[in-house]
Amino acid sequence: MKSFSAKSDLQTYLNPLRKKKKKIGFVPTMGALHKGHLSLVKRALYKTDVCVVSIYVNPTQFNDFKDLESYPRTVDSDVLKLRQISDNIVVYVPTNEDIYGKDFSLSDFDFMGLDKIMEGANRPGHFKGVANVVERLINAVQPKFTFFGEKDYQQLSIIQHLNQKHRWRTTIVPCPTEREYNGLALSSRNQKLSETSREKSGVIYEILKQVKLKFSTNSMENLKLYVKKKISMHKDFIELEYFEIADELTLTPAKKNQKKLKYRAFIAAKVEGVRLIDNIQLN
Ligand code: PAF
Repeated sequence: MKSFSAKSDLQTYLNPLRKKKKKIGFVPTMGALHKGHLSLVKRALYKTDVCVVSIYVNPTQFNDFKDLESYPRTVDSDVLKLRQISDNIVVYVPTNEDIYGKDFSLSDFDFMGLDKIMEGANRPGHFKGVANVVERLINAVQPKFTFFGEKDYQQLSIIQHLNQKHRWRTTIVPCPTEREYNGLALSSRNQKLSETSREKSGVIYEILKQVKLKFSTNSMENLKLYVKKKISMHKDFIELEYFEIADELTLTPAKKNQKKLKYRAFIAAKVEGVRLIDNIQLN
């Protein structure tokens, strides 16, 4: 398995493959790999000839320094996990300088308002950081297909929008959320939870599933009240940051159910100071 920390070396390796018409797939990650990431990698290997996996904890997408500091960094075991899957994986572990140069200057993007709600509203500057790193990583790898998980649905929507607008010349492939046995969406942040809280946090998905069941017979307002009430019944360990129902395509918060539209419910909650997010398709 090949591993590179400089973009120039990565490109020297990938260019001849591209000339031989090999399809390159790309899975950008911040490491601390779990089964969710590995399912994206397997999907990429199935669809392409070579899968590049980047492992880079991107400082510009953290609006909270403590969160950046405490983000799990486990590159050695990440590489081992990838090695066990296939030899056709190329690992790219760039330095800050390789991505941002010496001055860390960021480009501005027009997110068409997608950054003003939910994760964007609660984490100022987050999507600007994500867009900057994803654009640079895609430029470095030049993949035919790039794989993103639906767990970060708002991120996925923003990336799809920017990919079209800025012609990054890759196809974005959305992949379903992987879950623990109790329904908790897999996330690198779950590692920060105690065993008990991890167990109890299955309630987040339980509530989302209930919302889906109730969706066709309840107003948006009722569903929001229902979620608030349910979460408050578990206030000994969980605190609601937001719950929103939005149009799946535009992410516009929904006021009432219009039959022709597709909706998704989104939730962010804190457990032991760890932010957990999840979402579910409603109709
Ligand atoms: O989803 C993530 O892990 C990150 O936001 C990404 C896309 C790797 C950019 O740093």
